[in-house]
Amino acid sequence: MEKIHSLTGMMDLVGKKADKSEVSNRIFFTENVLRNIFENYCLSEIRTPALEDENLFKRSVGDSSDIVNKELYSFLDKNDKRIVLRPEGTAGVIRSIIEKKIDGDTHRLWYLGPMWRYERPQKGRFRQFYQAGIEILGYEEGLAELEMISLICSINKQLEIKNPVIKINHLGNKECKKLFCKELVDYLKPFSSKLDKKDLERLDGNPLRILDSKNPETQNILNEAPKISDYLPKDSLDLLDLIKDTFSNDCNIEIDHTLVRGLDYYTGFVFEATSSDLGAQDAYLGGGRYDELCSQLGGKNLPAIGMAIGIERLASIANANEINKTLVSFIILSSKIEQKAYKIAHDLRSVNKNLNLDIQLSEGSLKSKLRRANKDNASYALIIGEEELKSNTVIVKSLLDENSEQSNMTLNELHDFMKSIV
Ligand code: HAM
Repeated sequence: MEKIHSLTGMMDLVGKKADKSEVSNRIFFTENVLRNIFENYCLSEIRTPALEDENLFKRSVGDSSDIVNKELYSFLDKNDKRIVLRPEGTAGVIRSIIEKKIDGDTHRLWYLGPMWRYERPQKGRFRQFYQAGIEILGYEEGLAELEMISLICSINKQLEIKNPVIKINHLGNKECKKLFCKELVDYLKPFSSKLDKKDLERLDGNPLRILDSKNPETQNILNEAPKISDYLPKDSLDLLDLIKDTFSNDCNIEIDHTLVRGLDYYTGFVFEATSSDLGAQDAYLGGGRYDELCSQLGGKNLPAIGMAIGIERLASIANANEINKTLVSFIILSSKIEQKAYKIAHDLRSVNKNLNLDIQLSEGSLKSKLRRANKDNASYALIIGEEELKSNTVIVKSLLDENSEQSNMTLNELHDFMKSIV
């Protein structure tokens, strides 16, 4: 009888107890570490179906993207409806929110599951692969961007990733993107005969993606092309600098104005993390802001930012470690000091791996934030206002004992205290 084989580019994952460094074990371990980090950042899990209506991806990831254009696993079901195996997770999450499967105006979500893309299989590129994704919805540009990069730094640190680089860019607002694309097309049109088929298609459909071209001749032509950095508003450039400054002690961040990403829904800040240890497919995660996707799919305006991690790629460069945690709630009392206070919280997160640190991003009184900290079963609340920031101190309140006094600690004292918590 003819043997039945697994399909090309699709792996069986079978954990082998004896060999902890084996591919499947590394993948399972990495998934567990990521789940813990997501919990540590107080994100909630969401699972959407693997099968979706094809139009969902045509209208989100975009007709001009390789993912929709060439790589969709698309079928007619028994009812002649065109359905696809999801190539990514963001569109399904937004569909679910629009259908009001989750309540509220803000969401901090994560998911983990298989995705399918009909690509040419090679090292680090599969037809069925796993992604862990994060989508933070309902927050305008600002702290949510910092939260994303903070997450990446934590992932790099906990999995001891070697040679990680976080590349960041900003695609600007609608007007500057439109103007830049027009100037780019005007510049490139005279070179049409020198561009390959793929870049010519991009010139018509999504000119920004030409910046990402792998063709050396196109990259040569682009040397003299208009640069997106000359078109970006000051706010966007400032955000890139702020992110670089905030995390420069912790991770290697590069501003890369050629980074454009392969999906059509991005609107502002975009990023990718790469490691030279991965070889040709060197990006182990990518994401960005996509403020228009929800309204584009028929929902209300919902600012959003997210990212997805390629589990196989991350697992192949991860190291093994265990974690077990206590919750600390970090309460910022004034929006004026948010960014500086955020940096303090970011530094604290690396002091003790056994702690979960929840930064309460939303508006609200101290009382309501303390109530939430108690509801979340936090063991301690760290409270910082304008006075504390001036004097480099933080108020520490134990939530374990109702009668315990709160105390004021200097940042050094706080670091020692955080280290001592088991
Ligand atoms: P993406 O850049 O298409 O973004 O995929 C994210 C990551 O998934 C990549 O950096 C890579 O590590 C992994 N990946 C992609 N394709 C493959 C493949 N064929 N084999 C193995 N790994 C692969 C997205 O999917 C967006 N949904 C990310 C996002 C979320 N943006 C906003 N929210």
